[in-house]
Amino acid sequence: MPILSKLTGFIGAEIECLSLSETISGSGAEFLKRSLAEHQVLVLRDQYLTSPQQKALTRVFGPAMQLRYVSPLEDDPEIIAVLKEASEIGGGVFGGEWHADFSFLENPPAGSILNAVEIPDVGGDTVWASQTVAYRCLPDALKSVVDGRNAVHVGKPYGVKHAPPAETRANASIRMTRGDPDADRETFHPAVITEPITGAKALFLNPIYTTRLDGMSEEESLPVLQEIYRHCTRPDFSCRHKWQAGDVVIWDNRTTLHYATNDYDGHRRLLYRTTFSGAAPR
Ligand code: SIN
Repeated sequence: MPILSKLTGFIGAEIECLSLSETISGSGAEFLKRSLAEHQVLVLRDQYLTSPQQKALTRVFGPAMQLRYVSPLEDDPEIIAVLKEASEIGGGVFGGEWHADFSFLENPPAGSILNAVEIPDVGGDTVWASQTVAYRCLPDALKSVVDGRNAVHVGKPYGVKHAPPAETRANASIRMTRGDPDADRETFHPAVITEPITGAKALFLNPIYTTRLDGMSEEESLPVLQEIYRHCTRPDFSCRHKWQAGDVVIWDNRTTLHYATNDYDGHRRLLYRTTFSGAAPR
């Protein structure tokens, strides 16, 4: 029987006594999906998944996505190598700002899975912040701005103008596609969405892709969004994972934001990422 222990008061759970390399039964799949909906981030240690095993796990949650904005492995369009080489010193890192993955798509990924292969002795942790708790604790004055309102998401230039300069955003080992018209147009999503299994409401705003709130200009939106981002990335709402090779972490991309820490220059870090889709955010 799998054993689940919460990682913090608000977000994250570690699951033990469940091998993801074996075929996952119907009840195992239901357990994983419900646990993800309830805890938003699931950590499973010592899994050492092969690519086919990671892809099979991904399909437990939904159809695997192929995201053309980040170059995948040459021999597998479903898998991205999240890699920073030891030689990449002084630059940015992939995912090194608070974000959810690809919210500028009509149907952004429902969740993602990272499978750790090579991890520095120290550093390279990933942090997630619960957007259901952030919504629950949002001051009423801000709730009245976002409730019932859409927000505008734009992929261009994969880190909009309010984000740090491009050279600090990604690292050389990961190739990103720029100038794709599908990503660069405005996409509207509700600023507050409902997690379909638990019914919990979550903020769905993205510090790197949300350009403005619907009905407001970018200039009017900026101070409101900045105040919301300060709130929704509070350490109180977050959990931090210290990786070891063999770890698998699964997260809900709709009800969390995540952040890759960049404190391990001179050390190689490699994880494989897959992404699954779900119904459009509502
Ligand atoms: C990501 O944003 O998907 C990468 C997270 C990480 O490398 O820790």
